[in-house]
Amino acid sequence: MENRPLEYDYTVAKMFMWTTIITGIVGMSVGVLIAFELAYPGVNTIFGHTIAQYTAFGRLRPVHTNAVIYGFTVSGVFATWYYVGQRVLKVSMAESKFLMFIGKLQFWLYLVVVVFGIASLIMGWTTSREYAEMQWPVVLGVTVVWVLWGISIFGLIGIRREKSLYISIWYYIATFLGIAMLYLFNNAEIPTILATDPAGQSMIGSWMQSISMYSGTNSAMVQWWFGHNAVAFAFTVPIIAMIYYFLPKESGQAVYSYKLSLLSFWGLMFVYLWAGGHHLLFSTVPDWVQTMGSVFSVVLILPSWGSAINMLLTMKGEWKQVADSPLIKFMILASTFYMFSTLEGPILAIKSVNAIAHFTNWIPGHVHDGTLGWVAFMIMAGLYHMAPRLFKRELYSKSIMAAQFWIQTLGVVLYFTSMWIAGITQGLMWRAQDQYGNLAYSFVDVVRDLHPYYTIRGVGGALYLIGFLMFSYNIVKTITTGRRVEESELQNASPMAA
Ligand code: HEM
Ligand code: HEM
Repeated sequence: MENRPLEYDYTVAKMFMWTTIITGIVGMSVGVLIAFELAYPGVNTIFGHTIAQYTAFGRLRPVHTNAVIYGFTVSGVFATWYYVGQRVLKVSMAESKFLMFIGKLQFWLYLVVVVFGIASLIMGWTTSREYAEMQWPVVLGVTVVWVLWGISIFGLIGIRREKSLYISIWYYIATFLGIAMLYLFNNAEIPTILATDPAGQSMIGSWMQSISMYSGTNSAMVQWWFGHNAVAFAFTVPIIAMIYYFLPKESGQAVYSYKLSLLSFWGLMFVYLWAGGHHLLFSTVPDWVQTMGSVFSVVLILPSWGSAINMLLTMKGEWKQVADSPLIKFMILASTFYMFSTLEGPILAIKSVNAIAHFTNWIPGHVHDGTLGWVAFMIMAGLYHMAPRLFKRELYSKSIMAAQFWIQTLGVVLYFTSMWIAGITQGLMWRAQDQYGNLAYSFVDVVRDLHPYYTIRGVGGALYLIGFLMFSYNIVKTITTGRRVEESELQNASPMAA
């Protein structure tokens, strides 16, 4: 192995960093807008009645979910991969013209797909399957982007100098394989022009509109096998890959236990795939599928907490760093929120709890303590660590980072606490009966009672967005005005040589 430090090529990492920031701003702004639309429906018409159809909740909700999942989160995964991958494999992208070409091609195609996908949702062009709303031309584009990423992962692994594969690489590989499998199965669809009705007659359709190959209960099962595992392989597995790299690097501490990291890895891989049934409790899917979903969800606490505890214990004896460094604070709070949402999830999967929580605001509450507290915190922490090294500039402002941390933490807390109260209120009011067995409340009573909580959620979301804008400003200023530094000057006391 060479002694001279490698010159890594971060061109593609930088490109994906920009899309992470831009899609983050777009996705979160739309999130705040729809949060206020739920609290004050008139908000939709402030842009005028002509464009109200494009800004209606029904149009913008999938714009929000797709922008934050396939835009912000997936861009963050790609950006960190093109940084972490080279460093832990000890190989530079510059060493292979082919891989460099693939990386750039992946980026430009991804950009086209994201812009086209979001525009198509604003136009109301949707399959109406949650998280799989895109029509088949977009699905094809996503598939090619994913294949290119696969070539890049395995290509880099193929020419690596470091023989052993650090745990983060395992998690990136699992992300690639998991999503590839789920996405292809769930998006099996045909253009409506080729579809036939049950009597075998062809339907009048379009080449651009597609219809799923599954229907009824089968469709629900495939959809939630996909939907739940999208949570696993987009919101969990690659984020663990990030924390296993960035926390030890930033703190200079060795990972607490490699054995525990492997045990949790295989535990997650095995258990996650069976838990999707918890989205379909009390539905038409077979009872054993529902029970299996519940049971596997409860078991899922073990591997989830295995990773989270491993992270917390990595800071053993070094807790002072948590107090001193806002960046370490982000990562430690992220793993705490990961523990939190992976305790809440199994509780929600218990049938009697789900009977109250399902269809209520508790579910978006659960979603956002996971995504805001764990996923987005960790992606921002990763980019904060990377930016000075990518651009060889000192971080512009540590105090902006510290202020942002507290503003966003307050935002997450307001978001999930208001949604918990709203959800439980909603669940209990729907089932309350008077002494004659009639429903005690009308639907409108429930909506009226939820109004204050919707407002609080909107405020929490707005705080989170403000924090994200501060983050973006801090990164831009770092790149444009930060003091020039060599990497050796940046704190980099990690036991890993990469
Ligand atoms: C042990 C881990 C977890 C378990 C067992 C679990 C369980 C559940 C359950 C039971 C639901 C509600 C289904 C319903 O009644 O509609 C749910 C919804 C959801 N969870 Fe989790 N959860 C876990 C972790 C997470 C994490 C870490 C995240 C994100 C970072 C997350 C994101 C979601 C999303 C996005 C939904 C909503 C899906 C939808 O209806 O659109 N979950 N989860
Ligand atoms: C400023 C921050 C954000 C705000 C204000 C916000 C707001 C919202 C709102 C109002 C909904 C619709 C809830 C409903 O239909 O009742 C929603 C759904 C959702 N959001 Fe966000 N969001 C934010 C950030 C994020 C981020 C960063 C992610 C992921 C990384 C995310 C993932 C989701 C998902 C998966 C759903 C669907 C949940 C479900 O079906 O239960 N959100 N968000």
